[in-house]
Amino acid sequence: MAKIISGKEVSLAVKQEVADEVAQLKNEGIEPSLAVILVGNDPASKVYVNNKKKACDFCGIRSLEFLLGEETTQEELMELVERLNNDETVNGILCQLPLPKHLDEQAVLNAIKPQKDVDAFHPENVGHIMIGDYAMLPCTPSGIMEMFRYEGIELDGKNCVVIGRSNIVGKPMAMLMLKENATVTICHSHTENLKKIVSEADVVVAAVGIPKFVTADMIKDGAVVIDVGINRMEDGKLCGDVDYEACEKKASYITPVPGGVGPMTIATLMKNTVTAAKIQNKRGK
Ligand code: GUN
Repeated sequence: MAKIISGKEVSLAVKQEVADEVAQLKNEGIEPSLAVILVGNDPASKVYVNNKKKACDFCGIRSLEFLLGEETTQEELMELVERLNNDETVNGILCQLPLPKHLDEQAVLNAIKPQKDVDAFHPENVGHIMIGDYAMLPCTPSGIMEMFRYEGIELDGKNCVVIGRSNIVGKPMAMLMLKENATVTICHSHTENLKKIVSEADVVVAAVGIPKFVTADMIKDGAVVIDVGINRMEDGKLCGDVDYEACEKKASYITPVPGGVGPMTIATLMKNTVTAAKIQNKRGK
C-alpha cells in the first residue's frame, strides 16, 4: 500500500511559511500583491481563480481579480497587461489559461513583464529554467518538487518518466528533475512502447489529461506516482490521469485527486508572488 502524499498537508505548510514571510515584509512596508486575469466562462478556470483568491487571503497577499468577458479582444487584454506591468503596486500577474480560442495565448504571456511573471511562462523565465538559474518556477512542477522534498523522496540517479510535454507541466517538470540529477524521459502521444518505458520508472509524473491513463500494469512495484490530471467525469466527480485504486496497491507513494498536486500549484503561486515582491523591492535575487 502506497503512502498518500497529501497536497492539502504539504500546501498548508508552504502557505504558512509564505504567510509568515508576508507578515515580515508588511512590517517593512512591503505588501505583496497578485493580479489574476480570467477571460471567459470556463467553469474549471473560475474554480481555480477563486481558490487562488482564497490562498491570497490566507497568506495576507493583496489580490486583484480581472474578470473579462468571452468577447474580449487581443488589444483589450494586451492593454490590461501593460497597465498591470506599469502598476508599481502589483507584484505578480497571472493570466489564467486556456484563453478563448480567438486570443493569442503566447503573445499575452510574452507581454507580461518577466519580473512579474509568477507563472514563469515568459520566454526569458523559461530560458532561466533551462540554464538552471532561476528565481521563479512554474507553479505545478515546483509544487511537485516541494512534495518530493517534504516526503524526503530522493531523485538523484533515479529513473523518472514524465507523461505529457506541455509548456506548463511536462517540459519544466523534466528540467527540474534533471537538475536534481535524475535520468528523465518525456513520453507523449507519439511515444512508442510507452508502457514499457513507464514500467521501468522509479518516479512517474502523469500529465496527459486522460482519465485513468496510467494503469497498475504500467507501473513498477514501489514506484512514486504523481498525478497532475484533473478530469471532470460525467457524474461530476474529479478523476486523475492515474487509476488510483489499482496503482495505490503497487506504488510506494501516490498523490490523490483531488487533494494532491492541485493545492500545491496554488501554494507555489503564493511563494512566487512573494519572490516577485522581494525582487521588485530589491530584497531578493
Ligand atoms: N491553467 C492551468 N494551469 C495553469 C497555470 O499553472 N497557470 C495559468 N496561468 N493557467 C493555468
